[in-house]
Amino acid sequence: MNHELSLRVIEYFGTDSRRIHHAMQVYGFAETILLAEGIVGKERQVIETAALIHDIGIPEAERKHGSSAGNYQELEGPPLARTILEGLSYPEEVINRVCFIIANHHSYTKIDGIDFRILVEADLIVNIYGNTMSRQAADTLISKHFVTAAGRRIAEGMYQGY
Ligand SMILES: [Fe+2]
Repeated sequence: MNHELSLRVIEYFGTDSRRIHHAMQVYGFAETILLAEGIVGKERQVIETAALIHDIGIPEAERKHGSSAGNYQELEGPPLARTILEGLSYPEEVINRVCFIIANHHSYTKIDGIDFRILVEADLIVNIYGNTMSRQAADTLISKHFVTAAGRRIAEGMYQGY
């Protein structure tokens, strides 16, 4: 993982420590799941990068559209991510895949690979904790959207009796 990317993401969010904590938490869960899944190389780089940067469009979405709704984030995030990643000389194929995941990360029907899947599982693990939802709603999310063994193990273990 590129520490400079973490630092840029942290700096981009400025004093919005809630967003910074979110990015670092999603990164931590994504890293655990990808290691459990034996993922290496560029695919690992895509997941780590997407985990850190997936919500980068939120401040612009709020500024331009007055809303952090998923569709605005998905619109504003990819160009910003591209600028940051090009500045750090990331490989073009990694940038393209990360931008695709950011552009679709609230559209679960578009999940088309293990990299995208792990980002969504890690994001959900963090967001279920942050939301007030019923046990039943959490169970439905988990049974619908968790596919990897490690992601399911974390989510079921953590939210049993939620
Ligand atoms: Fe997120």
